[in-house]
Amino acid sequence: EKITLSVIKADIGGWPGHSRVHPQLIETAEEILSKAKEEGTIMDFYVAYAGDDLQLIMTHKKGVDSPEIHGLAWDAFKAATEVAKELGLYGAGQDLLKDAFSGNVRGLGPGVAEMEFTLRKSEPVVTFHMDKTEPGAFNLPIFRMFADPFNTAGLVIDPKMHMGFRFEVWDILKHKRVILNTPEELYDLLALIGAKSRYVIKRVYPKEGHPLPKDEPVAVVSTEKLYEVAGEYVGKDDPVAIVRAQSGLPALGEVLEPFAFPHLVSGWMRGSHNGPIMPVSMCDANPTRFDGPPRVVALGWQISPKGELVGPVDLFDDPAFEYARQKALEITEYMRRHGPFEPHRLPLEEMEYTTLPGVLKRLEERFEDIE
Ligand code: 13P
Ligand code: 13P
Ligand code: MG
Ligand code: MG
Ligand code: MG
Repeated sequence: EKITLSVIKADIGGWPGHSRVHPQLIETAEEILSKAKEEGTIMDFYVAYAGDDLQLIMTHKKGVDSPEIHGLAWDAFKAATEVAKELGLYGAGQDLLKDAFSGNVRGLGPGVAEMEFTLRKSEPVVTFHMDKTEPGAFNLPIFRMFADPFNTAGLVIDPKMHMGFRFEVWDILKHKRVILNTPEELYDLLALIGAKSRYVIKRVYPKEGHPLPKDEPVAVVSTEKLYEVAGEYVGKDDPVAIVRAQSGLPALGEVLEPFAFPHLVSGWMRGSHNGPIMPVSMCDANPTRFDGPPRVVALGWQISPKGELVGPVDLFDDPAFEYARQKALEITEYMRRHGPFEPHRLPLEEMEYTTLPGVLKRLEERFEDIE
């Protein structure tokens, strides 16, 4: 029995600034999704938030890229945007870049991670929700989960996953993709995904010999690029991901383990700075210091045979991640001391999509040749 899990998110207004989602936006989205559940469009849903990003988590039978499901998400974002406008929230409708819905939210602003798969007898899933960063922030943790034996013991000791996995990597500049197999192409994979602003892990698949169907993803990341749609900086593409766990896949703890290291990601203030990603529970997913530091929330679910989302379990609500949070704060302090200097501020080529070119342009005519 195949089911689709869709996570569709958008920033449709911050409260205040870019800090968090106002509860009335969540209520508005809940009303619309409740109605859709009653009507049988979706099987179940949950509305979450991460910083200023509203997160719709839905199960249904309509497959990926379904006009009905994307249309539903679009309607929920539109309705919540009206509320955001009434409340005068900051950047109301920020990520809804086009006026008209045309069958699919791709390229319209919202971020999407969705996968269709055959339900296992027990289906443990984690949805990750990041704020103040970009899709490449998932490269390191997804790599660790599915390809690094120092993270995932199962790659070594579980015969069901000992053969490794297949990674689908997107070149977001050239709009091309490549499939790489691990462990045999580990170094090629790293050559690409280490450049996280350009090469982004889109999906992970089982390999030949794995008990799960080869064409059904086991992990998926949103890779939308807002600046390409908007033509100018309107905020970073705060990403989401779905990862399935256990029984031939990384165990729940192996899925979470990469976040014990608060690696550096780009985003943070004005989408223009490098900083550590801090794993937090939902109640702490409200970035404020220098609009950050970047956050990641992990929600744990069991999907029931009827498609119910049994959860969420707020997975980083665990003192075992206290050390990572403390480390993230130390790194925050260290990075902040660089002020406007790289590598705290992003390199020039990544600043192209910010407001910096406007400043540089004004200096252009002041430059003269050096003898
Ligand atoms: P339990 O013994 O608690 O079921 O844990 C099994 C396991 O594999 C943990 O990773
Ligand atoms: P968001 O991408 O979360 O809207 O943040 C934008 C920003 O400029 C933060 O300083
Ligand atoms: Mg915002
Ligand atoms: Mg955001
Ligand atoms: Mg954003």
